[in-house]
Amino acid sequence: MTTIKKTVQVWSPLIRIGHWTLVIAFFTAYFTEDDFMNLHAWAGYIVGIYLLTRILWGFVGGKYVRFGNFIHSPTKILGYLKNLIARNPQHYIGHNPAGGAMVIALLVSLAGTTLTGIKLYAVEENKGPFAITAQQAQIKIQSASLITEAKAEDDDEDEGSKDLDIDHKADKQADKQAEEFWEELHELFANLTLLLVFLHVGGVIASSIIDKEKLVKAMLTGEKNIDDTYQ
Ligand code: HEM
Ligand code: HEM
Repeated sequence: MTTIKKTVQVWSPLIRIGHWTLVIAFFTAYFTEDDFMNLHAWAGYIVGIYLLTRILWGFVGGKYVRFGNFIHSPTKILGYLKNLIARNPQHYIGHNPAGGAMVIALLVSLAGTTLTGIKLYAVEENKGPFAITAQQAQIKIQSASLITEAKAEDDDEDEGSKDLDIDHKADKQADKQAEEFWEELHELFANLTLLLVFLHVGGVIASSIIDKEKLVKAMLTGEKNIDDTYQ
């Protein structure tokens, strides 16, 4: 039986530039923090912009980029993996069912990392899109100074000022707890994403070897060489 071979354009320049920009931005964010907070936040924002664009493209982009093209049922994903292990894989022009599931997991985990990062930036440094406004900050400062004034007025430390003192301490403790909570969650998402990235790259390598597919080349040039076994 003869197979007809042809070259198809699978990934548009936007998807390819987006992917490699994401790779650089993700690792930049992962390996910077503390002293390089500005760089860290900007790398994170680039990931956020990538996500918004990629999610939109999942609805309005080309055929192989749309979510509908690569979201499959668990049965189909497992079936694909079984065939891959049996070295008899089905060929897909776009993402294969397992690759598609990984893309969704990566997008969700990246969104969690970015959103918790933005929240943490607001809680820790009151910077970024979730930072409270100058007016809200003013109200916070005013209520804090009211407490301090009330404390100063009452040197005898009567019951009322003790209550204010406890309130003030409880406020500070709540802030600290919020900071710790968002930091833990942000770190958890960042490490979950890193784990998924390892599995993603492992999957790309496995497919490239078993399936003899030049997936990385396709993510660079946008083109795939296909025959009539591809769906
Ligand atoms: C150097 C390491 C990497 C390589 C070689 C690589 C390679 C690839 C390849 C070949 C594809 C297309 C897969 C297919 O044909 O089904 C792809 C897609 C994708 N990769 Fe990577 N990748 C790398 C790192 C990353 C990282 C670090 C992330 C996220 C932080 C990531 C996120 C994605 C996403 C979201 C897609 C789907 C692209 C789309 O549909 O727009 N990749 N990657
Ligand atoms: C995908 C993108 C991102 C990755 C991979 C990432 C990764 C990380 C990691 C690994 C840490 C260290 C956690 C720890 O050890 O406690 C961290 C901390 C932090 N990240 Fe992100 N992050 C990302 C996006 C963002 C964004 C968008 C922001 C805010 C605009 C942000 C703000 C922060 C802050 C404020 C800290 C705490 C720094 C400190 O106090 O030491 N991150 N991030």
